[in-house]
Amino acid sequence: MPTLTMSAPLIISLILISTYLTTTNAAFSEQSLIMLPTEKLTHLHFYYHDIRNNKNPTVVQIINTPKDVPNGFGTTFVMDDAMTEGPKLSSKEVGRAQGLFALASLQDLGMAMLTNFAFTEGIYEGSTLSMLGRNPISEQNREMPIVGGTGVFRFARGYAIANSVTSISTQEHFIVEYNITVYHP
Ligand SMILES: *[C@@H]1O[C@H](CO)[C@@H](O)[C@H](O)[C@H]1NC(C)=O
Repeated sequence: MPTLTMSAPLIISLILISTYLTTTNAAFSEQSLIMLPTEKLTHLHFYYHDIRNNKNPTVVQIINTPKDVPNGFGTTFVMDDAMTEGPKLSSKEVGRAQGLFALASLQDLGMAMLTNFAFTEGIYEGSTLSMLGRNPISEQNREMPIVGGTGVFRFARGYAIANSVTSISTQEHFIVEYNITVYHP
């Protein structure tokens, strides 16, 4: 079995080489090769901003719930939120988080999220990631699946971890920190 004895060291060295091939494309992202050099693991870190004032809202409620249903069940919103590198709205914008979300749980404050992250910065400009999942908004480290993408994120799959930044959020300006981890070609 000469091919087997030859291929084992080759595979091990490929894994070792790929471990060291990590590049930083922008301050908010880090990309590294995994196992096979054709697949990348990308970690994205950004904040998005729900602005709920009357003048320039980035979130609008489109469906009102009847008065007697629990937990605002049925209440539905559309958003087009700025995504920024840092927690402040004035920090560099890296994309827009556009989508629909609704209170979809009778038992607690659970939202159904349908969000497209449209990136506008660096090598990600023009590429999108799509997130579809359950968002238990009263908890931290909320996990939602990334179900696909376009552009550099074609065939992407992974997950997002969302955390409310309550320390600097207000009723009219709510900030959520997102950490997204995806595999993609
Ligand atoms: C999110 O990413 C940042 C930057 O890489 C890191 O410091 C932080 O610990 C991550 N948070 C979570 C919840 O993964």
